[in-house]
Amino acid sequence: MSNSWDANHYDAAHSYVWTLAADLIELLAPQRGERVLDLGCGTGHLTAKIAERGAVVVGIDASAEMVRQAQENYPGLSFRVGDATSFEVDEPVDAVFSNATLHWVKDARGAAGRIVRALRPGGRLVAEFGGKGNVREVCRAIAAGLEAVGAPSFESLSPWYFPSIVEYAAVLEGAGLEVTFATLFDRPTLVEAGLRSWVEMYGTTFLAAVGEQKREAFLDAVEEAARGALFKEGKWVADYRRLRVAARRVG
Ligand code: BEZ
Repeated sequence: MSNSWDANHYDAAHSYVWTLAADLIELLAPQRGERVLDLGCGTGHLTAKIAERGAVVVGIDASAEMVRQAQENYPGLSFRVGDATSFEVDEPVDAVFSNATLHWVKDARGAAGRIVRALRPGGRLVAEFGGKGNVREVCRAIAAGLEAVGAPSFESLSPWYFPSIVEYAAVLEGAGLEVTFATLFDRPTLVEAGLRSWVEMYGTTFLAAVGEQKREAFLDAVEEAARGALFKEGKWVADYRRLRVAARRVG
């Protein structure tokens, strides 16, 4: 969650992040008056959907730029800057909701500990993020691009955490949550803005390691390496795989 984000670009070109996860709100089933924390709220669109159901929701995000954009998008809602491994809540919440965030948190145990602390006993977590095998072809292409320009390896740089169901259930159980639902599913995702734009948005760690001089050669090499697997009928389709979980705080 420490990436620097271009919130305008995110809102304009990556809206699939929240439009494709709208049904996650059905799994959350927010009730009128419930206190909900949206962990990794981005520009606030799902936070607003939760608020529409009558819940009292606070959005937090590690990026000050995202929080600023969320507040501009939804001035009537509460947003603040906070990291998944260190955030605090004023009062325990009934539910923690999180979409497309936890794959940025390599300290999964740290985040799970914070989530448990934020929940009232019996409170629930509903989360979706990249699971085992997520963006496998994109990762392969980035690895090839890094190699092509002589940059450090993908493994040494990757900021992402894509666990299996078993791995993540163990993290949640270890923190004091009881897993009530878990599924891992493919969700090929059309990236209208193109793979280059995707890497520019989400791959800032790799771009920083590559440096300005080799940036274009790196992006060309990534596109070339990914084309066979991900460029379909003139469009880029990223090989997303989602891990969707629900869990309840025990005691
Ligand atoms: C994802 O939503 O799966 C994702 C987004 C950015 C980087 C890696 C994965």
